[in-house]
Amino acid sequence: MNQLVSQLSQYKDDILKESVTNAAELEAFRIKYLGTKGIVKASMAFMKDVPVESKKEAGQLLNDFKIFTESHYAGLKDKIESSGHSGQTYSDNTLPGYAFPVGSRHPISIIQNQIISIFRRLGFAVAEGPEIEDDWHNFTALNLPLNHPARDMQDTFYIHTQPDWLLRTHTSSVQIREMEKQQLPLRIICPGRVYRNETISARAHCFFHQVEGLYIAEKVSFADLKQTLYFFVQEMFGKDFNVRFRPSYFPFTEPSAEMDISCVICKGKGCSVCKRTGWVEILGCGMVHPNVLENCGIDSSKYTGYAFGMGIERITMLKYQVKDLRLFSENDLRFLKQFTAQ
Ligand code: PHE
Repeated sequence: MNQLVSQLSQYKDDILKESVTNAAELEAFRIKYLGTKGIVKASMAFMKDVPVESKKEAGQLLNDFKIFTESHYAGLKDKIESSGHSGQTYSDNTLPGYAFPVGSRHPISIIQNQIISIFRRLGFAVAEGPEIEDDWHNFTALNLPLNHPARDMQDTFYIHTQPDWLLRTHTSSVQIREMEKQQLPLRIICPGRVYRNETISARAHCFFHQVEGLYIAEKVSFADLKQTLYFFVQEMFGKDFNVRFRPSYFPFTEPSAEMDISCVICKGKGCSVCKRTGWVEILGCGMVHPNVLENCGIDSSKYTGYAFGMGIERITMLKYQVKDLRLFSENDLRFLKQFTAQ
């Protein structure tokens, strides 16, 4: 009896150590333990050597062993079948696969990339700079000395512990950094995030994105600026869009203008979006002020240049007809999923 007990427990140990990874190994397990010449059947032969008084107990042990082996086999079989390695066609290959969620680009990134690629084709290079700026690059060099009233045009976030530092209010600061390198001619666009201390609403936020452009060379004129921006509008919005320039004021450009395009909704006929004017404003621009060139060590009697700056949110809202700027930063997937990368 003792011999039977220890033999069976040895077999059980062996069984627990068996590992099967496919249908063929599972079948080998079945033949080895449960087949007609398998270990379970062979163990039954013990019965004939067991004394009569122990037969009942031995029968019980052997039966337990058989059940143990069969249930272990069933467990292994389940495992193989559910892992898909059964070698048998239990699965329906025509069922749709598991959905694999793929992200898409943020609408601001999509439009930013489109703007960059349009200006790239005109020979503009991309320049980037820091979001934490010093006063010189954000204001003073741009012809906005301390206490200049126009500083109020852009409500600024200052850094308390470093009074000279601020969060840039426009990417014109990058233009200064590039002009200071004095490698002329210079033809750049400066995309990036900018910050202004504005009350958050459907049309304003405390941060937004800009693309500003700058071209400095000899004999650059306002006609070049107009033609460049006209080309941009036609590429960005379509051939049937017109532009108009309205006189404006920026300390860093003279003359300065604001540019409108025909309303994206009514194409110029007049609607509520364009307040019946047929026009919507998209950017500010002008000829670089001679003081700005001189501040960067560029000879303003030899070189002239134009600059422009636009808010990417504004362009995106017009292009996709988004009515509330806050949607861009709320991370609501129902909104973001509507834009596929182009
Ligand atoms: N820097 C201006 C702004 O952020 C835009 C601008 C750029 C206007 C270049 C004129 C020329 O409002």
